[in-house]
Amino acid sequence: MKEKLYTPGPVEASPLILQAEARPLIHHRTPEFRAEMKKAGEGLQRIFQTDDSVLILCCSGSGAMEGATVNMFSPGDPVMVIRGGKFADRWMNIAKAYGAEVTAVEVEWGQVADPDAVRKALKANPGTKVLFGTHSETSTGARHDVKALAAVAREFDVPFVVDGITSVGAMELRTKDWGLDMVVGGSQKGFMMAPGLGFVSVSARARAIAAASKTPRFYFDFNKALKSWDAGGDTPFTPAISLVRSLVVAIELIEEEGIENVWARHAANGAATRAAMKALGLSIYPSVSSEALTTVLAPEGITSDAIIKTLLKRHGMRLANGQDSLKGRIFRIGHLGLYSAGDILAVVGALEDTLASLGHGLTSGAGLSAAQQVFAKSAHRESAAV
Ligand SMILES: Cc1ncc(COP(=O)(O)O)c(C=O)c1O
Repeated sequence: MKEKLYTPGPVEASPLILQAEARPLIHHRTPEFRAEMKKAGEGLQRIFQTDDSVLILCCSGSGAMEGATVNMFSPGDPVMVIRGGKFADRWMNIAKAYGAEVTAVEVEWGQVADPDAVRKALKANPGTKVLFGTHSETSTGARHDVKALAAVAREFDVPFVVDGITSVGAMELRTKDWGLDMVVGGSQKGFMMAPGLGFVSVSARARAIAAASKTPRFYFDFNKALKSWDAGGDTPFTPAISLVRSLVVAIELIEEEGIENVWARHAANGAATRAAMKALGLSIYPSVSSEALTTVLAPEGITSDAIIKTLLKRHGMRLANGQDSLKGRIFRIGHLGLYSAGDILAVVGALEDTLASLGHGLTSGAGLSAAQQVFAKSAHRESAAV
C-alpha cells in the first residue's frame, strides 16, 4: 500500500511535479535551461513576496540555513538567536560552528517568542550584527510572529534572518513588507516537491553584508551565487536541473490557486484539524499553532509511538513523532502542500478509529463533525491543484 504522508516534510508530492522531475535531462549552460531558471527565480520572488533575488541552492533546507548564516557575519561577531525548538537551535549551532558569539533569547518549547523579550535582549546587546528567528517551528508546531519580531529588529537596525522552511508557500509571509533580510525555504515542504532544493531571499542590506563577510566559505558563498544570478539566471555550480524544472511546475500550481488562497486553505486546514483534535479530548501542544502542521499531545496512558504505528498499519497514513524530549509525547500532523478539506477529514476519521482502538474514550464522529463545522464556515474550501 502506498503510504500517504501527513508529515511536515517531506510532504505528499504532486504527481505533476514528480512527472516534471522525471523528464530527460537538458544541459544547464543553455538558453533553454536559463529560461527555466529565470522563470523559477521570478516565481519564487512572487511566492516570497519580494522583488529581491531568491537564490536556488542545491541542498536541503539546512544547507540553505548554513548558506544564510555564513554570509551574514564574520568570525567573532556577536549574533542573536531566538530559540524555542530544534530548528531554532540549528541557527545557533551553525553560527557557533562558524565562530559567532551567540546570545540566545530563550523561549520555552511550545511557546512563541515575546517581541518585548527580544527588544530587551537587543537593548542589552548593542553590538548585535544579526538576529536569527523561525517562522514555523516544525519541532513544536508553533508559529512565531515574525512580522512583529522584524519590527523590533528594525528599531535596532539589526538585520533579521528567518527560517521559513515550513512557512513559505503555506502561511502568510511577506518578505519585503515585513522587512526580512533573508528568508530560507525548502523544496520538500510547501512546494510539494522532492527534497533537494533550498531557497534564500537576499535583501539589498544582506547583499552588502555578504560582500563584506570574512567567514570562510566556498560552495555557499552568496557573492558568487548572486553574481551568476545577476548575469541572467546562471549558477556557479551545476544546478539540480530536474528539480529546478519541476520547481517551475510547482510555482505554476501555487499560482493557479493563488498564493493568498493557498494561505487561506492552510489556515482552514489547521483550524479544522485543531478543532477536531480538541473535540476528541486531546490538547494542542503549542500556544500558537503554525498553519503548516498540527502538534497534538498524546492522551494519558497512550504513547504517540503507538498512535503513529497504529494509524500507519490500519490506514496507511504516516504522521511524525516528537523529536528529542517530545518523542513519544506528541504527534505531528503535517498539512502543508496539497492537502484538501477531504484529506483533513480522512486523517481525522482515521485517527478517531486509531485512538478508539488504543482505548482512548471518545465520541465517534466528534472530530469529524468539529472539522466539518470549521470547513463549513471557511470561505476557502477548494481543493489544491494536484
Ligand atoms: C523549520 C525547519 N527548519 C529547518 C529544517 C531542516 O531542513 P532539511 O531537513 O531540509 O535540511 C526543517 C526540516 O524539517 C524545518 O522544518
